[in-house]
Amino acid sequence: MSHAGFSSAWRRWTWRGLAGAALTLLLWLARLLQLAPGHAPAPQPTVTILVWHWPFTAQPPELSRNTCAAYGLSHCQLSTNRSLLARADAVVFHHRELETRRSYLPLAQRPRGQPWVWASMESPSHTHGLHRLRGIFNWVLSYRRDSDIFVPYGRLEPRQGPAPPLPAKNRLAAWVISNFHERQQRVQLYRQLAPHLRVDVFGRASRRPLCPNCLLPTLAPYHFYLAFENSQHRDYITEKFWRNALAAGAVPVVLGPPRATYEAFVPRDAFIHVDDFGSAFELATFLTGMNESHYQRFLAWRGRLRVQLLADWRERFCAICARLPHLPRDQVYEDLDGWFRG
Ligand SMILES: *[C@@H]1O[C@H](CO)[C@@H](O)[C@H](O)[C@H]1NC(C)=O
Ligand SMILES: *[C@@H]1O[C@H](CO)[C@@H](O)[C@H](O)[C@H]1NC(C)=O
Repeated sequence: MSHAGFSSAWRRWTWRGLAGAALTLLLWLARLLQLAPGHAPAPQPTVTILVWHWPFTAQPPELSRNTCAAYGLSHCQLSTNRSLLARADAVVFHHRELETRRSYLPLAQRPRGQPWVWASMESPSHTHGLHRLRGIFNWVLSYRRDSDIFVPYGRLEPRQGPAPPLPAKNRLAAWVISNFHERQQRVQLYRQLAPHLRVDVFGRASRRPLCPNCLLPTLAPYHFYLAFENSQHRDYITEKFWRNALAAGAVPVVLGPPRATYEAFVPRDAFIHVDDFGSAFELATFLTGMNESHYQRFLAWRGRLRVQLLADWRERFCAICARLPHLPRDQVYEDLDGWFRG
């Protein structure tokens, strides 16, 4: 074989090899993209979330195949049908119904490797019996930002179009309270403020109860709303802030976690934090002495942002589907009590 003949045979062989390799690569890519003939895109399997008991009620809302689609989550189904325990992709347990009954958990029937979710929107001060729940749950669903499934009580979103106008602000400060106890920090602060600041008190604990639909129209004419949480805990910011103040268009005066936590959720000039004042008298003086242009700065965010309340348990539970592919399956909360109180 001449040198030239060898070289051309080698070249032919190389080209055939390269063409073969290229074809293999293309087929492999096509398979990867599911474009190869006979390979229709595989339907995405539907994730089933079993809700062991609906929070606070024996009457769960109507659940359909489209429940989670309403929140932008397809292939995600909520069910309260306990016969699905053996094949649910995750089971979620709301804490209040477990508080006194660990026996309520179907531990003996739990399929191996099935993720269980512990869910609560209450603060540690109103959460009991966690020490009985050691080493059971894989994931936590709560308002805490470090939850596996983080579900805040509300959030701000970009606004399309102009903000709806607020009614004339002809009242000073409002507070809605249903459980009034002298030992609460919020009640002590109210007692200190009251001599210096006119506060109109509404709710079950007052002589002025409010029907649910009257809440926002009643609060909107107020300049300020006392968004005092019932207890002070890490990330615990509730509908008192999101709904009663921000959504109603009253500037929140907040008592709760530190200023930095609120600033993680809303612009720094969307609220007034009681920690920024040396005394209740100073706070009252600041509120009563504020001029109109200063006041309007606290509402400036409304031009760009709107409040989205996240109050529906269906939306909270559907959120599990969005997080499911990203959550560690081998994680277990050995000390749920320690984590939640930490
Ligand atoms: C619950 O699920 C089981 C098994 O899929 C089914 O046979 C049963 O009809 C369901 N029950 C209800 C009330 O939907
Ligand atoms: C309103 O109050 C702000 C802040 O105290 C002050 O800087 C501003 O000069 C006041 N404006 C008027 C018009 O009084």
